[in-house]
Amino acid sequence: MLAIRTLALAAAVLTAGVFAIPTGNLHKRLVDDLSHDLVDEPTALGRFKLLNQSINNFIFNFLDPTLLNAPHGPDGIVVLATAASFPATIGNGVAMGVGFMGPCGLNVPHLHPRSSELLIALNGSLVFGTITENGATFITSTIKDHEATVFPAGSIHFQQNLGCDPVQFVAAFGTDDPGRLDIAPALFQDLPADIVSASLGDIGVQEVEDIAAKIPLNVAWGTQQCLDSCGLTRAGQWTPEAIAMAKRQFDDFMRQGSMKARDFVGLPVGSVSKN
Ligand SMILES: *[C@@H]1O[C@H](CO)[C@@H](O)[C@H](O)[C@H]1NC(C)=O
Ligand SMILES: *[C@@H]1O[C@H](CO)[C@@H](O)[C@H](O)[C@H]1NC(C)=O
Repeated sequence: MLAIRTLALAAAVLTAGVFAIPTGNLHKRLVDDLSHDLVDEPTALGRFKLLNQSINNFIFNFLDPTLLNAPHGPDGIVVLATAASFPATIGNGVAMGVGFMGPCGLNVPHLHPRSSELLIALNGSLVFGTITENGATFITSTIKDHEATVFPAGSIHFQQNLGCDPVQFVAAFGTDDPGRLDIAPALFQDLPADIVSASLGDIGVQEVEDIAAKIPLNVAWGTQQCLDSCGLTRAGQWTPEAIAMAKRQFDDFMRQGSMKARDFVGLPVGSVSKN
């Protein structure tokens, strides 16, 4: 099985004309094949021998541009070293995430179905919140540079950078496959809108769908209070400047009549905030 995969890969490498470090899809296929071979291997020594074919298999770079350029939200990214991205974790019961949080960046409320988490803030402060189960109370506080907290397995939790400079965090997990479920997309985008509407006191299916359409990717912009204090604007927000510019353009359009419709930029695209 391994020999066939190796041959297939050699062919792929030759076809692609890639003789250096594999990148992009080819790299992903190499990782996938190694991962499946590791899972098939019953002993730790066997897995070691598979990994030992290249010293690179023992190293994960959280600053890898391919990982940093993966789809992510408007205010940062969480890079994960798990069974899915770093085969050396397979069978070893560990995983790690590094959060690159922009000013006011919010690692949106989520849970990990299969692991507790130990999270340390680096180079700044993070406000965090946790709720573990019915009957427990919501816990929230701030961790400063090099302070850490624990999020129990299955708890809903979040972290937000309350500062105007970037902050990082490192999150350690007790399994190679902690998983992650984001609460707002799961509730508003994945569950049936009529069920969600009913469970919210019948707020209306359209209202549920309106909320679903507004949910940003992670890392999202944080609270409005933080954005205001840092002088930041949420994308698509109707700021006084944007409204003034739109009015000017509309007045020009009406007055001159010579502007083409495409010259009218209008208000910023995207969701519209409450103010
Ligand atoms: C691991 O790789 C090194 C370097 O190629 C080699 O010397 C060593 O024998 C390998 N160990 C095992 C157990 O395969
Ligand atoms: C950490 O903060 C220091 C000063 O506050 C800054 O110079 C440095 O670039 C920061 N490092 C990272 C990795 O953000």
